[in-house]
Amino acid sequence: MTASNHTSRLPGFYDKSLSERAQTVAAWANLTPEQLAALDGSRGLTPEQADHMIENVVGLHALPLGIAVNFLVNGREVLVPMAIEEPSVVAGASFMARLARAPSASLQGSAKGGGFTAQATEPHMIGQMQILGAADQHAARLALLENKARLLELANQIDPLLIKFGGGARDLEVRVIEDSPVGPFLVAHLIYDTRDAMGANAVNTACETLAPTVEQITGGRVHLRILSNLADRRLARARCAISTQALAFGEFSGERVRDGIIEAYAFAAADPYRAATHNKGIMNGVDAVVIATGNDWRAIEAGAHAYAARSGRYTSLSTWGKDANGNLVGTLEMPMAVGIVGGATKVHPTAQAALKLMGVTTARELAEIIVSVGLAQNLAALRALATEGIQRGHMTLHARQVAIAAGAAGEQIEIVAGKMVAEKRVWIDRAEEILKSLKGKES
Ligand code: MEV
Repeated sequence: MTASNHTSRLPGFYDKSLSERAQTVAAWANLTPEQLAALDGSRGLTPEQADHMIENVVGLHALPLGIAVNFLVNGREVLVPMAIEEPSVVAGASFMARLARAPSASLQGSAKGGGFTAQATEPHMIGQMQILGAADQHAARLALLENKARLLELANQIDPLLIKFGGGARDLEVRVIEDSPVGPFLVAHLIYDTRDAMGANAVNTACETLAPTVEQITGGRVHLRILSNLADRRLARARCAISTQALAFGEFSGERVRDGIIEAYAFAAADPYRAATHNKGIMNGVDAVVIATGNDWRAIEAGAHAYAARSGRYTSLSTWGKDANGNLVGTLEMPMAVGIVGGATKVHPTAQAALKLMGVTTARELAEIIVSVGLAQNLAALRALATEGIQRGHMTLHARQVAIAAGAAGEQIEIVAGKMVAEKRVWIDRAEEILKSLKGKES
């Protein structure tokens, strides 16, 4: 059995015990006992491994790892590992993934209730070189461009393995910055295909290697040599279509939910204050998978928000509208510099198990799943905000956390949380009171 030939619809998964869920997932994806142990936390990253990853290690810092179910991405069934501390995120993604695969006669063409259609560009990263002190910026720019082939060839001598796998230097672009606090200077962009690696090390090494030759050519001084996190040559895109029938619930008609979501999107499209929160909702999903796979979530965050401001005004990363048949349609496009080789991805046993669980064999596939989760997460937030509000869903899990913080354990957690939600009084003093009265009854 492989991850692609059976369904990620796992009804009742939510109600299973923690260990039953882990077993289910392990059987679903043919995980080895070691991979299962890495997922369920019994044998993940060791302090010894951590000690080789960063400095001054004193221990480990854990996060909950949940599995989002129901995902269908480019026709492939996927169970998605998400590392996150916030309640409702995993449930929200799973629920929206279910809506995105709900078939309906109104869904035509490639959508057909087929989950998410996703695509990632070539994995092209940008390495920047800041060139100061050239006598004439424009002449230096042209001199660099005239030497492009030579510079690319030089860059390609650095990492034969990357070349063997089809990566390497692709292009050189040069801009003149006319006005800055230190006067005019040049910026050269080395476009570098990093294949299945995130690529920071490869790009930084390439820029550092090219610097002396760039200085020779321009007569200037190469100052910074570092990749850009605005990875706008390495984008991931996802779209989905959902019928109004699938959107309807309770007192809310599907049309009302759809239009409410579109109006909510319009708010984010027009107002940066709302766009920041809207995009944060997208990143709830994106970061959780990025972290689960051992990738650099700060890089993804930086790229996402810089991309959202690329027009000069910060706006929504996603769009929501309706198609000719009245179905809700959503799109998301954002930089996605993630890798499946190198760095923590390779060292961290849980990251390795997470990749195996998703059955991804290329960084592009991983990027396509992540952007689909981001879109699902955005939909979950907008659907709640545009209808019953966000607190109802949030409250139940939040209440459990408050109950635990007040000292509840075992069955007490559900009792205390349930009572607080029913009363709409979810705070620690109340949890302590309920717990006290429970303990009173027990004794
Ligand atoms: C909370 O973590 C995320 C939301 O605020 C996103 C949004 O407002 O769209 C619910």
